[in-house]
Order: sequence, then structure tokens, then C-alpha cells
Amino acid sequence: MDLRIAVLPGDGIGPEVTQQAVSVLQSVSDVCGYPFRFAFYRIGGAALEQDGTPLPERTLSACLESDAVLLGAVGDRKYDNTAGRMRPEAGLLELRQALGGYANLRPVRAYEAIADCSPLREDVVRGADVLIVRELLGGLYFAQPRAIETDGLSAFNTMRYDVYEIERVAHVAFKEARGRRKHVTSVDKANVLETSQLWRRTVNEVAQQYPDVTLDHGYVDSFAMQLVTTPARYDVVLTENLFGDILSDEAAVICGSLGMLASASIGGRVNLYEPVHGSAPDIAGRGIANPLGAIQSAAMLLQYSAGLCEEARQIVESVDRTLARGLVTPDLAGRRKRIPSSTEAVGAAVIETVTDLLRQQMAYHAV
Ligand code: NAD
Ligand code: IPM
Ligand code: MN
Repeated sequence: MDLRIAVLPGDGIGPEVTQQAVSVLQSVSDVCGYPFRFAFYRIGGAALEQDGTPLPERTLSACLESDAVLLGAVGDRKYDNTAGRMRPEAGLLELRQALGGYANLRPVRAYEAIADCSPLREDVVRGADVLIVRELLGGLYFAQPRAIETDGLSAFNTMRYDVYEIERVAHVAFKEARGRRKHVTSVDKANVLETSQLWRRTVNEVAQQYPDVTLDHGYVDSFAMQLVTTPARYDVVLTENLFGDILSDEAAVICGSLGMLASASIGGRVNLYEPVHGSAPDIAGRGIANPLGAIQSAAMLLQYSAGLCEEARQIVESVDRTLARGLVTPDLAGRRKRIPSSTEAVGAAVIETVTDLLRQQMAYHAV
């Protein structure tokens, strides 16, 4: 299981949480004897500082030659008023496009142990387990033309989808649903937008190939309300790029912190794994960022890029057990007012638990 992993810590809390995710992978490698090889590269504001570009050629080519990419976050207040390609975020978007992963999987779960951390009532979130499948390379984010007019008085972006872009991400959603509760909810704005009318028609056509999976459709405005009203009703949620960006941050309130959410961008040349959250400049440098979104992204890496499903499952189990011990960063103090731990302490607890679980499993298989 030789696995070359390009690690891009990025900005703000990116390096803090990525360090914990890498340590978790390293502990899996140590216990199971898999030679994972990590190589670190710059992206975002960190790259702008050193290399004058948010995605240096060296970073891009190393990512394209690796088996998987693990990223922290990009974004720095310093660049808030910078436009176009010289923003840290532009480097991430260019990387996503080059790697080619068009299906961005963002699982959201109501963790029993931290149910009191959600602003939603416990009986509302209980049992919620949603997989958001966000189309990642199309729509408003990438379609041309786009510009700020030279007079600075107007600007425009293009919302465009081609059938093949909808089909390929829909197939991912239906296949994921087969391994879950076999239900897909496709979210669009077909009552207004032509792109959404094409989206709905295409998803309905793809659905014919998955008669065992049920499909329904929702409009994004009312769905945004229903997602936090009856989250346990949903299984796989399939949606376009911008809607998926917004709905996934909203979905974070189901589990109580954006810091918990992981993601995998699959389907392209090299898969990309990153937490859903950003660089969180408001808490960066203080050692208090929640590393569990990054750690669960590392678990997705093992599952989707290495086929190490059991090891991935043990990481997730270790996250659950760490939460159950009340070991959390300040974002998860909750109504129970837990005493907060540091990023490093939470990471260390996951590592300790996953090491134990994997050792037990190996001892069991040895007899
Ligand atoms: P953010 O996700 O960075 O933070 C939103 C809020 O959630 C903040 O209060 C933050 O402290 C909190 N938070 C986020 N992650 C956390 C964690 N792991 N532990 C504890 N609390 C956490 O969003 P923002 O403040 O809107 O954006 C900051 C910067 O990050 C911007 O430059 C934005 O463009 C960028 N961004 C990058 C990515 C990415 O790299 N994938 C994603 C989102 C935003
Ligand atoms: C995310 C982020 C990115 C996005 C930004 C930083 C480009 O918000 O991954 O959710 O909009 O896709
Ligand atoms: Mn986002």
C-alpha cells in the first residue's frame, strides 16, 4: 500500500488541522506497516508570499503526480481586497480544476455525543446522516464569460451547465446512495433557472438506470429550510456548485460545528481531500481549531484513494470515541459547557484510540 500523499497545509488554521490529519495517517501507517509518503507544498496566501502566485507550478505538478492530495484551507484577510487570480482562493479553484474531481462529497452526521452542541433541538438532529454531493467544477464558479466591466459599474458571471457535467455527478450520487439508504434528493431552482431545468431533466434521466434508488427534487430555498427542520429525512443530497457550497456550511449546524465537516473531491485524475471549513482567521495561531474535519478528510482519503475502508472506519470510530470522552476544542463546548482542549490534545486522543483499535484488530486477525 505505497501511497504518495501531497500535503498542502495552506493558510490560517490550515496548517494546524492538517498537522493532526497527517499524524493520524502516520499512525495508521506505523501500526499497519503501510508506507505512506508525505510531501509538503505551498498553496494560497502562503504561496503568494513566497512564490508570488497562489498555485505555484511546483505544487501543481507534485499534486498531479501524487496518489492523493490532502489540503488544509486557503484564505488570508491580507488579500480580502485583491481581485481575480491573485486571491488565495483562486489557487484552490485552479487546483480543483486541474485535479479534475467533479464530485465533492461532504458527509454530515449528528454525532450522538455532541448533540447538545447544535443550536437545533436534539430531537430534531437525532439520527441525521446526510451526504451532500456537490458538483464542483461547473456553474457560476467556472463558466465563461465573467468579468468586472472596465468602468467598474457592473460585473457578471455565467451560470452554465452541460448535460455531461450533470450526468457524471448524478451517477456518483446514485452510486453513493446504493451504499446507504438508497434515496437521492436533487436540489435546484428549476422554477426560475434554465440551468436548473436542464439539471432536473438530466437527473431524472440518469435515475432510470438506478431503479432501486428513490429520487425526489427540492427547490433550494425551501430545501435550505427543510434541511435544518427535518435533517433526518435526507440521505444523499445532489446539487450544483454554489448551492452545495452554501448548503454544506448550513448543514454544519446539524452537528454543531463547521470544524467537524470533511470532504472528498472524486472522479478526476487525482482525488482531493479537504475539510469544508476555511482558514478561520478569527482563531488562527491559537492552537484551538477543531482538527476533526481534517482528520475525517484523511479517513475519506484512505477509503476513496487507497481502498482502506476498515482503517477509515476505525478513524471515524476514534473520532466518535474522542467526542464521547468529552475531549473537544472550544467550538464544541456546547450547552454542557465542556472544558475545551487544544487542537493537539484532540488530535492526540484520536491517534491514541485509532492505534489501539488497529492493534486490537491486527491481534484478532493474527489468531
Ligand atoms: P471559515 O470556514 O474560515 O470560518 C467560519 C467560522 O467557523 C469562523 O468563526 C471560524 O472560526 C469557524 N471555524 C471554521 N473552521 C473551524 C475549525 N476547524 N475549528 C473551529 N472553528 C472553526 O469561513 P470564513 O471566515 O468565511 O472564511 C475565512 C477564509 O477562508 C476566507 O478567506 C475564505 O475564502 C476561506 N475559505 C477557504 C476554504 C477552503 O480553503 N476550502 C473554505 C471556506 C472558506
Ligand atoms: C469551500 C470554499 C471554497 C468554495 C472557496 C474557498 C473557493 O468555500 O470549499 O466550500 O467556494 O468552494
Ligand atoms: Mn464553502
